[in-house]
Amino acid sequence: MSGVDLSLQIGSLKLRNPIMLASGTVGYGNEIAEFADLNKIGAIVTKSLSLNPRKGNAPQRIIETPAGMLNAIGLANVGVEQFLKEKIPFLKQYDIPLICNIAASTIEEYVECTRILTTEDAIKAFEINVSCPNVKEGGLQFGNSCQMVSEITAKVKAETDKPVIIKLSPNVSSIADFAKAVKDEGGDAVSAINTLVGTSFNIFTKRSKLKNVTGGLSGPAIKPVALAKVLEIKQKVDIPIIGIGGIMNWKDVVEFMIVGASAVQIGTLNFIDPYASERIVAELEKYCVENGINKISDLTGSYIL
Ligand SMILES: Cc1cc2nc3c(=O)[nH]c(=O)nc-3n(C[C@H](O)[C@H](O)[C@H](O)COP(=O)(O)O)c2cc1C
Repeated sequence: MSGVDLSLQIGSLKLRNPIMLASGTVGYGNEIAEFADLNKIGAIVTKSLSLNPRKGNAPQRIIETPAGMLNAIGLANVGVEQFLKEKIPFLKQYDIPLICNIAASTIEEYVECTRILTTEDAIKAFEINVSCPNVKEGGLQFGNSCQMVSEITAKVKAETDKPVIIKLSPNVSSIADFAKAVKDEGGDAVSAINTLVGTSFNIFTKRSKLKNVTGGLSGPAIKPVALAKVLEIKQKVDIPIIGIGGIMNWKDVVEFMIVGASAVQIGTLNFIDPYASERIVAELEKYCVENGINKISDLTGSYIL
């Protein structure tokens, strides 16, 4: 025991450490459990769930890019009912806070999904995806409008006593305005960022490599953008921030916390090294010991300009 306190709290959501697994990169937990010990991770965020099952986009849905990847999965998921029946029992074996990510085509669908899921005790918080760039309805149509984000936050909050985190899009000119809208409607935290819109073409066939033409860019290529967005929110709005984007190691986590993140999510790295999240928890603890940090939450927003 090092004596370092890695824990933190966002509303009623208690985390043993700031490392969360990002939506869409570990399925419903089953895809990562054989590699990382889920009992040692801060929290797990499910793949985005919608009211009804979704098949997602046609392939090709994923391609590699320099320092990252483009995905256009299109929110393929089993739907809330099947999630509760078939996926929750697996997750209940573990002592890890479960955050359900919800995606929807209408405001009513966000509300309905929350109403159904909030009855399940194992679900400790909601992350509302208003920022998916890979679907025709919903997604960025919501994430690009402050008024929509306000309305979604207020209506989802009215449906549950559990913490509500709104996952923001970087594809906007002032992300802090969106964070303020979330705070004003009683949202408990924001996560930043979802993927950036990108594309890639084959120079010989002249066809787009992704069937959907555009996709979401993730991985180390987006880290500087994500850090700037977290800093912008931290400077302008008093709301807990979950930092996401291109985290590859413990140093990236520390950097996100310094610019303002209370916790972070690991996404693309899970595909490259599924053992990484558990290792990063141990490495963060070592960093704290070596640098005389007793409570990791003291790092949040400790930047010097
Ligand atoms: C293959 C893939 C699928 C994703 N699916 C979702 C999703 O269903 N819902 C969501 O909110 N974000 C989704 N994301 C976005 C990630 O949760 C994360 O915000 C983004 O990838 C940036 O973090 P990273 O650079 O660490 O991957 C997905 C990302 C990837 C790579």
